[in-house]
Amino acid sequence: MADAIQTPHASQTKFSPRVFSGIQPSGGLTLGNYLGALKRFVAMQGQMETIYCLVDLHAITVWQEPERLRQQTREAAAGFIAAGIDPARSILFNQSQVSAHAELGWIFNCVARMGWMSRMTQWKDKAGKNAEAASLGLFAYPSLMAADILVYHATHVPVGEDQKQHVELTRDIAAKFNHDYKVDFFPLTEPVIEGAATRVMSLRDGTKKMSKSDPSDQSRINLTDDADTIASKFRKARTDAELLPDTPEGLKDRPEARNLVNIYAALADLTVEEVLADYAGRGFAVFKPALADLAVAKLAPISTEMQRLMADPAEIDRILGAGAEKADAIAQPILAKTLEITGMIRSRR
Ligand code: TYM
Repeated sequence: MADAIQTPHASQTKFSPRVFSGIQPSGGLTLGNYLGALKRFVAMQGQMETIYCLVDLHAITVWQEPERLRQQTREAAAGFIAAGIDPARSILFNQSQVSAHAELGWIFNCVARMGWMSRMTQWKDKAGKNAEAASLGLFAYPSLMAADILVYHATHVPVGEDQKQHVELTRDIAAKFNHDYKVDFFPLTEPVIEGAATRVMSLRDGTKKMSKSDPSDQSRINLTDDADTIASKFRKARTDAELLPDTPEGLKDRPEARNLVNIYAALADLTVEEVLADYAGRGFAVFKPALADLAVAKLAPISTEMQRLMADPAEIDRILGAGAEKADAIAQPILAKTLEITGMIRSRR
């Protein structure tokens, strides 16, 4: 039988494997960020080169109080390190310290089409009915995200489900750039969306994504929550009155139940099937306390370590600065080559 025709993707081409991902430091990190992104960032360390970024330039696409943004960027950096990102094995930095992101972002603003941007569901959700009042930066957001990724020629981008469309747009931008300038310069990056918790839902409403911008603090677990708060939020989480089923299909029309089982599976590094094998036929009076205990065991040490790290902000700034230097060394030659391809004079070397 003939082999299926496969589109060559980044990991099969001349580009060496490299991971890039980012998180906005606008508000604290949530369990959604942790399970959908951060925990997986940690798992990818050592498998290939890993570059992780606190995207402060993305954060200001909506208003941020300057001192609070600085504080939250440090707190997010502490969260990364407390969760297991090792600045000696991964590059960890904040986006605005590497100017190549914004410079390549401009070039991509000239490659991406207005129509592509207006189809982004996150733009539609965030701009809402009043798009006229949204910042231009919010509209161009995915183009800067493409620059974040492609300024490192990153081949793999671990993200939660909600960022899939943006990574696909990154591929479209890379393909159009390569096509327009007749080069094979930018890789077609793969989104890596894996595991039981690629879309963690609100603890109050299983049809809404868990988010740092939800007005109800009860809807989410923050990485800064202490053990009692974590346990109490899970105990109060909305559920239904039925028993847990013995197959994942049995969770299909039960969004709250499915969300809690997914969270359990991701925290315990189990599959949903394995969790159900242990809890089928049990009710939430049994499952919720077990989940609360598991979450406290996994998350409380992270919040304690974050607090310890936050006591020395100068050390956090030093780590981010050192990371930015390493990131800059990779990004500059790629940016320089891009400028050359696009016809800019480069005489000051
Ligand atoms: P942000 O800051 O909204 O979220 C950071 C990461 O966390 C994931 N995530 C979730 N995963 C599962 N369930 C949830 N409820 C949940 N909430 C958030 C997101 O999918 C994401 O992976 N645009 C990006 C930041 C960004 C970026 C990049 C990411 C900028 N440049 C380059 C990757 C590569 C964002 O706003 O993520």
